[in-house]
Amino acid sequence: MYEGKLVRLRAFESGDLDANHAFVNDYETLRGMMSGIPFPSSMGDEQQWLNQQSSYTRGEYQFAIEDFEGDLVGRCGIIRVDWKNRLGELAIMIGTPYRGKGYGTEAMAILSDFCFREMNLHRLKVSVFAFNEAALRCYEANGFVREGVLRQELWRDGAWRDVVILAKLAPDAG
Ligand SMILES: CC(C)(COP(=O)(O)OP(=O)(O)OC[C@H]1O[C@@H](n2cnc3c(N)ncnc32)[C@H](O)[C@@H]1OP(=O)(O)O)[C@@H](O)C(=O)NCCC(=O)NCCS
Repeated sequence: MYEGKLVRLRAFESGDLDANHAFVNDYETLRGMMSGIPFPSSMGDEQQWLNQQSSYTRGEYQFAIEDFEGDLVGRCGIIRVDWKNRLGELAIMIGTPYRGKGYGTEAMAILSDFCFREMNLHRLKVSVFAFNEAALRCYEANGFVREGVLRQELWRDGAWRDVVILAKLAPDAG
C-alpha cells in the first residue's frame, strides 16, 4: 500500500507469525531496541501480539515491512501518539537476515512521510541506544536530528548505557 524502491509497508497477516517469532528471539535485535528485560518470546506471546494488530483498534500503529520477494523483513510503526501536541513516537526493527540492505532507511522514509501526510503529525521522536550505530544512521539519513542524551538511562550487557533522543519536524514546521 505504501511502498518505495525496496520495501512496502502493509498490514500484519496471520502468516507472519513464524518470521516475527524468529525476529524477536534474536538477542542482537532485543539488545538494540528493548529497554526492558530481553526475555525470549514464545509463539503464544507473538500470536497475542499479532492478534492485537488490527486497523480497528488504535493506539499503536504497526506496519509489517515486506520486500519485493514477498518476505516479511521487519516492522515499523508509531508506538505512541499524543494527538493534542501532534507528536508521534516511532520504532523500527529489521530482522537479522535482512539488515544492511537499505530496508530500514527506506521503511523509515515511508513511515515518516505517512506520519506527516496522513496522520498530520507535527513532530516525530525516537529514542536510540547510543551504541546502536545502525539505528542512529538510519534515522539521521531520514532527517532526524539529535536533541539530547539521556545519560546512563539503560542497563544493558552488564553496563550503564546512554540513550539518544532524535526528532524530526514536519516539512511545514516553522
Ligand atoms: C536499526 C535497523 C532498523 C537498521 O535497518 P537496516 O535495514 O539494517 O539499515 P540500512 O541497511 O538502511 O542501513 C542504515 C545505516 O546503518 C549502517 N549500518 C548497518 N549495519 C550497521 C552496523 N552493524 N554498524 C554500524 N552501522 C551499520 C548502514 O551502513 C547505513 O548507514 P549509511 O546509510 O550511512 O551507509 C536494524 O539494524 C535493526 O532493526 N536493528 C535491531 C532493532 C533496532 O535496533 N531497532 C532500532 C531501535 S531505535
